[in-house]
Amino acid sequence: MADPLPQLRTAGQADDDPDGSGQRRFDELIAADQRIEPSDWMPAAYRKTLVRQISQHAHSEIIGMQPEGNWITRAPSLKRKSILMAKVQDEAGHGLYLYSAAQTLGTDRDTMFEQLITGTAKYSSIFNYTTPTWADMGSIGWLVDGAAICNQVPLCRASYGPYGRAMVRICKEESFHQRQGFEILLELMRGTPAQQQMAQESVNRWYAPALMMFGPPDADSPNSQQSMAWNIKRFSNDELRQRFVDMLVPQAEILGVTLPDPDLKWNEERGHYDFGELDWAEFAEVLAGRGPANAIRVARRRAAHEDGEWVRAAARAYADKQAELASATNSTTVNSTGERVAS
Ligand SMILES: [Fe+2]
Ligand SMILES: [Fe+2]
Repeated sequence: MADPLPQLRTAGQADDDPDGSGQRRFDELIAADQRIEPSDWMPAAYRKTLVRQISQHAHSEIIGMQPEGNWITRAPSLKRKSILMAKVQDEAGHGLYLYSAAQTLGTDRDTMFEQLITGTAKYSSIFNYTTPTWADMGSIGWLVDGAAICNQVPLCRASYGPYGRAMVRICKEESFHQRQGFEILLELMRGTPAQQQMAQESVNRWYAPALMMFGPPDADSPNSQQSMAWNIKRFSNDELRQRFVDMLVPQAEILGVTLPDPDLKWNEERGHYDFGELDWAEFAEVLAGRGPANAIRVARRRAAHEDGEWVRAAARAYADKQAELASATNSTTVNSTGERVAS
């Protein structure tokens, strides 16, 4: 199908703004904390940053369906199965809103899909960890969706309109995701010693990777400053990580799980919890594609994409037929079986 947004593809290049009025208007909008919309002039670097961030975010939602989708057939009850199915479907929806938002910047969806299935696009490293136990459904909801909320609530105010608006709905759903994960762990912690142990063991595995979801420490995150200047990002990686830890500690107390960090303690002076160093060497390994499930995730996504080719072909054929029928309406009529007949 033809790309519906070809006119946006070259917008934002320097030669599109010979008198500098586009840049001035952009700077005014950012300074006033107003929104940039798809038809506005924007600097090429702003567009590129957004395409990268939004498409990586979309890919994360789509790949993120796998570690949980893996448990749908094995959920311990009908209720758990329907909750998990709804949650995984939400993640598919998040991916689709975000691909749509990225498309408004002039990058078509096929290009983004291609980058994902050929392994050239990045997505959140957290989804390269495996889910060997049912308790992992609890830990993912509580910790992974919990970290996602901390990260994403400020993105509802991102300067790029379509991204910020997509995030509003996504955040509402993420908050349900976090609560359902918390509730899975709570039920396990109220269960037998074996269930409690399963919950604790799972939290032990997911805690540090969830903290790493905020990205490297501020000192090692050179692009963050520019994103903050453009009002895409509102808080630094370390600020968000701190906010997340402060939120988790009281919740862990209610659950009765121990967070696996011996350095975790309240700092009266700072008014925040102190926490230990994270293993950034592990983060780099997973990011470089050497995590426990990187190869499986991309291969699975590629197979799903290839298996879906007949659906795309059918949708294309249907759309083409509709367009043909619409353009022929003036000179022909359509009979009850959809065939065109001369009028
Ligand atoms: Fe999501
Ligand atoms: Fe989620």
